[in-house]
Amino acid sequence: MLPESLLCLLSATFAFAQARQQLTLDSVASFNTLRLNPPSFSIPQEERLAVSIALCSVTSSQPRFFVSNISNSDGQSDPGPAGGTNVFEIKMVDGLGSWTGGFPNGGLLSVQSSDSDGFSFDVGLSTNAEPLHQNITLPFLGDTTSNQAIVLSAPFAKFDIPVPSYPNYTLPAANMSQPPPPSSTPNMTLIVTETSRAITGGPRTGCFLSSQTTTGAIDEQMVWARDILGYRSQWLLSGLTPSTNYTAFVIQDSTKVSGPIYFTTKSAAFLCPLVHSLPFCPGVAYSMPLPAPPAGSTSYTAANLPSTLTDPLISYIANFTHVLSTFACGRDWYSPLKGCDDCQREYRRWLCAVSLPRCSEASPANPDGFTSVPAEPSATGIVASKVAQQVLSALVPVETRDPPRNEFMPELGQPYTALLPCLEQCNIMDRACPPFVGIKCPTSTFNAGASYGVGYIDSADGDEFGGLTGTAQDRWGNVWCQLV
Ligand SMILES: *[C@@H]1O[C@H](CO)[C@@H](O)[C@H](O)[C@H]1NC(C)=O
Ligand SMILES: *[C@@H]1O[C@H](CO)[C@@H](O)[C@H](O)[C@H]1NC(C)=O
Ligand SMILES: *[C@@H]1O[C@H](CO)[C@@H](O)[C@H](O)[C@H]1NC(C)=O
Ligand SMILES: *[C@@H]1O[C@H](CO)[C@@H](O)[C@H](O)[C@H]1NC(C)=O
Ligand SMILES: *[C@@H]1O[C@H](CO)[C@@H](O)[C@H](O)[C@H]1NC(C)=O
Ligand SMILES: *[C@@H]1O[C@H](CO)[C@@H](O)[C@H](O)[C@H]1NC(C)=O
Ligand SMILES: *[C@@H]1O[C@H](CO)[C@@H](O)[C@H](O)[C@H]1NC(C)=O
Repeated sequence: MLPESLLCLLSATFAFAQARQQLTLDSVASFNTLRLNPPSFSIPQEERLAVSIALCSVTSSQPRFFVSNISNSDGQSDPGPAGGTNVFEIKMVDGLGSWTGGFPNGGLLSVQSSDSDGFSFDVGLSTNAEPLHQNITLPFLGDTTSNQAIVLSAPFAKFDIPVPSYPNYTLPAANMSQPPPPSSTPNMTLIVTETSRAITGGPRTGCFLSSQTTTGAIDEQMVWARDILGYRSQWLLSGLTPSTNYTAFVIQDSTKVSGPIYFTTKSAAFLCPLVHSLPFCPGVAYSMPLPAPPAGSTSYTAANLPSTLTDPLISYIANFTHVLSTFACGRDWYSPLKGCDDCQREYRRWLCAVSLPRCSEASPANPDGFTSVPAEPSATGIVASKVAQQVLSALVPVETRDPPRNEFMPELGQPYTALLPCLEQCNIMDRACPPFVGIKCPTSTFNAGASYGVGYIDSADGDEFGGLTGTAQDRWGNVWCQLV
């Protein structure tokens, strides 16, 4: 029988001599520092690996992670802050870090922390050049109403766009449909919290964020191809509070994080309903000056948007396509870069933007943020503003008696504030189309400001992305002009 003290010593030695746990390729493993002995892992041999770390809980001190790629033998000591050849620190930003390199003899990963409460973290090993944990492109806010929001993820997969060719140059139908659904869809999760309740300074990782409670209800989640960039997830949220700031993240496959973006719901007085999921106008996901949707619906889609509005729109696209097709598309080239397919697509986007007007509202934080009279012909975003050094959105009040921009729009029967299309929506179409179709966009020196937001994306004298904001909307919830 061994004396008790010796027994303790022996088990301590055993614990110390314990072999390091080996990490598995192309998978994510979860750990807690309180149950780590030793605080290091062995990395298998592999020509090239991306090692990624995600913190899953809030830590009181900043932990550090070190990787070495000399060998994974048990005799090799843990890599640490003392450095040495082939020892690298994984730089952590917002709870996320990764290191990519060669592991011809395997390697080691160690964690150093002075956090006595412990914390949990995930480790991913990827044989693909892409780390398993990463932050990806931001989600896209469609629009909000007083209690709803429509949010789209960044594109997660491309789809095939058949490029038409002469002599069978077939353009998409005027009443086109969405591309066939993707063969597989990643697990996409939307996390929305009131900005005032969001945990600031917490890690921006999938494992941490998915443990947060989400505000509002997700009425619908679907795959939507908004533009040629690819398939996205689209969420329709309800049950939000008017005039409230929200923070949104999208988590893809539990490990890839997109966000945050911020948005504000409209005031309780805002009445314009959301319109979305129109295959013939796939970029439309915003509120419009329409009467309340038919009973049983909380928004408009292709299924319940009045045909008195959609039929003429589709007919315009059909007639334009017909005119365009009189050109020898695919045989005679009017531009080395653009074809009739680009022209038709950009015409569709422009037509959707101008014939389906968008409602908006001055930000509650900035109630004077709109032009009280339609802008002067030469107005740009900043000229339209009354406040120096502040860029105001291209908002114009529309009175009940004003003639509608689109004669086929049903009457709202009350005044609203319209957000004008960005002038670039017209210029992009102009650049994509052959001269003979006769597209003429207004210029900033001659009447553009009356019907378009001018000078936001491109400068008023046409400098690309040289405008006041360089973009139609930003991640902070500002929407300067309408771009479909
Ligand atoms: C470890 O990685 C570094 C950086 O990628 C590389 O220069 C070095 O050759 C690698 N060490 C071994 C033993 O492969
Ligand atoms: C990910 O985050 C880092 C650090 O915040 C940033 O530099 C990088 O641009 C981000 N990447 C993407 C795709 O957003
Ligand atoms: C022309 O192309 C369309 C679409 O690519 C295809 O459906 C059609 O069968 C083709 N017609 C001929 C005559 O090849
Ligand atoms: C929402 O955020 C904006 C900009 O940060 C701020 O000015 C405003 O006061 C916030 N509104 C509410 C209701 O918290
Ligand atoms: C999808 O991701 C969420 C958040 O990361 C996770 O909670 C959920 O279990 C995942 N669902 C599936 C089916 O993998
Ligand atoms: C457009 O296509 C949809 C579905 O294919 C159909 O229900 C609708 O009637 C069509 N609209 C027009 C104007 O052709
Ligand atoms: C499209 O062309 C047809 C035939 O020329 C015409 O009857 C129809 O009114 C046109 N549609 C629109 C919206 O102008």
